[in-house]
Amino acid sequence: MEKGYQERAAAQSYMAFLDSANGRIQQQIIFDAISELFPKTDGTAILDAAGGIGWLAAKLKTGGNRIYACDFSRTLIAAGQRRFPAVEFSHCDLTGPLPYPDGFFDAAILNMAAPDIAELSAALKNLAAKIKMGGRLVMTVPNPYLTYPVAVWKRSIADAILGRKPRLRFNRVYPAKKNIVREFNGKKISSHFYTLDDYLAAARQAGVSLFNMRKLKSQTDSGRFDLSYQMFRYPLILLMEFRK
Ligand SMILES: C[S@@+](CC[C@H](N)C(=O)[O-])C[C@H]1O[C@@H](n2cnc3c(N)ncnc32)[C@H](O)[C@@H]1O
Repeated sequence: MEKGYQERAAAQSYMAFLDSANGRIQQQIIFDAISELFPKTDGTAILDAAGGIGWLAAKLKTGGNRIYACDFSRTLIAAGQRRFPAVEFSHCDLTGPLPYPDGFFDAAILNMAAPDIAELSAALKNLAAKIKMGGRLVMTVPNPYLTYPVAVWKRSIADAILGRKPRLRFNRVYPAKKNIVREFNGKKISSHFYTLDDYLAAARQAGVSLFNMRKLKSQTDSGRFDLSYQMFRYPLILLMEFRK
């Protein structure tokens, strides 16, 4: 059976993605959007939850910001501790008790990790408890209306013969299942299909309210079939900002 990122091979494949050209494009697009939300660089306490190797935490560690990252993959945490010693890493399972005092953070970020979490409302509830009143929960997710399992990039035989790039095509049937297997960077990862209303319901149950939502797009077109090309055409990532 396919597993999530707690499996070492899946974690290693995710690290390979981050170091690839597409991974760097994704990091840049996400960092540009998230860093706008945190212009203050003094004393803001931010948690990069399910932060993997903590690349985002490391980039947000400017001035006197206090930046923490936690994840349940020990492989990713160990790699992050080696690469980004300025970030304070902890092992955590977001669906269980978290190793921080209640009301400690000005903000928690859940970056491209929500579909990997089976009990999303429990995870958001636990995270919300660690945020101060008036603090923020920032979540980026694959746009549920433009990415797998709703749509996939495909190239027909005619496209291949004519040398056309793959096109985003919608699957014939709207997905009925929540538990899905995502193919990511050549690895099968067990994952979940959450719609926008699923995200909003989980946030509501966690006691945070939607403050803003943005569709993230690439500013650069690309001659290659890469993430810049894809995100120049479609907003494949959604950013949601909630307030407690
Ligand atoms: C797609 S990766 C994203 C990692 C990171 N946020 C980034 O942008 O590079 C999803 C991450 O969620 C973590 N994760 C999934 N479920 C989790 C849980 N219940 N508690 C903590 N981390 C979890 C995985 O270990 C993995 O690092």
